[in-house]
Amino acid sequence: MVPDLPAELAGRRIRVAVLCGGESPEHDVSLVSARNVLGAMDPERYDPSVIQIGRDGVWRRAGQSAALSVTPGLPPEAGGAEFDVVFPVLHGPNGEDGTVQGLLELLHVPYVGPGVLGAALTMDKEAAKRVLQAAGLPVVPWVTVRAGKARPGWEATTGRLGRPVFVKPARMGSSVGVSVAATAEELDRALEEAFAFDAKVLVEQRIDGREIECAVLGNEYPEASVPGEIASTHDFYSYEAKYVDEHGARLHAPADLAPDQAERIREMSVLAFQALCCAGMARVDFFLTAAGKDGEAAAGARDGVYINEVNGIPGFTEISMYPRLWATTGLEYPQLIDRLISLAFARHAARKERGR
Ligand SMILES: Nc1ncnc2c1ncn2[C@@H]1O[C@H](COP(=O)(O)OP(=O)(O)O)[C@@H](O)[C@H]1O
Ligand SMILES: [Mg+2]
Repeated sequence: MVPDLPAELAGRRIRVAVLCGGESPEHDVSLVSARNVLGAMDPERYDPSVIQIGRDGVWRRAGQSAALSVTPGLPPEAGGAEFDVVFPVLHGPNGEDGTVQGLLELLHVPYVGPGVLGAALTMDKEAAKRVLQAAGLPVVPWVTVRAGKARPGWEATTGRLGRPVFVKPARMGSSVGVSVAATAEELDRALEEAFAFDAKVLVEQRIDGREIECAVLGNEYPEASVPGEIASTHDFYSYEAKYVDEHGARLHAPADLAPDQAERIREMSVLAFQALCCAGMARVDFFLTAAGKDGEAAAGARDGVYINEVNGIPGFTEISMYPRLWATTGLEYPQLIDRLISLAFARHAARKERGR
């Protein structure tokens, strides 16, 4: 039984539309995530269907070529089928950034994951940092570079941030457009690369530390999983290390951490989730340096801990940490799906009750 279900759904399977694909460079990653989410859905409980957004932006029922039409104020209809809830398994712009969430709000359909603001904030790494900072949470020192303006000089930038630096598009994921720069020429090249994906780019201090991730689940009062660790075998956790090289990274769940350190990371994860107006799910990614141990105060860090980023729609691929961390915490994949779907209904019902 899925808790918090609307009464009209009693006694029948819940029709879930899994939204996947999309126009972003993370199209393929989304398809892999969606396949896993579908595989974890209990067929006795759910009647799933797949809506695949093409690279051309057209919405299609999987396996069919006809475009779907959506009518504001009504549940989305596709060839006569209606859905009770939508599960956006989309990564990157036009999916994870509040655009799809806004459409679903207008259609008055319950949906899994963050709403408009949570999705938009977690998608924009600069906006997210500013909000996290204002909430007193530690973020990696950075400078923002905008397209069309004079590029920052190497000396001035590295004078503030040290060297090398990390360069990344503000609104992208899966390490697309992310590179490390150790010289002025590399910085130029890295900016060029990042500007191919966004008009706003972040140049960050390189943090030499462990990558720790924590999964969060809930709405107003979410819970955090045990933290896990990603040990990349590449220069950093690049697209290749994530998805191309099957030996690109080793995942450890739980991470080998002192109990108080793990606890602090869980607390920070919940605070970050709330500060960024997340809902349903999020994965909070950290860097953990040795600075905490010898008492060295690193700029921006607290006890050697920085929040790198928060993912409002975390990956659900085979190698993805989000479902794995919950399994390690004691919540198996099918039960995780149940929770996510009931959180979507709960959020929808609460908003409806207030007349939104
Ligand atoms: N400031 C940094 N210092 C060290 N490594 C970094 C830094 N920023 C990013 N990285 C590396 O690049 C990877 C991808 O960067 P991230 O900011 O997480 O972007 P994405 O949203 O694409 O995952 C990280 O997992 C990490 O391995
Ligand atoms: Mg990341």
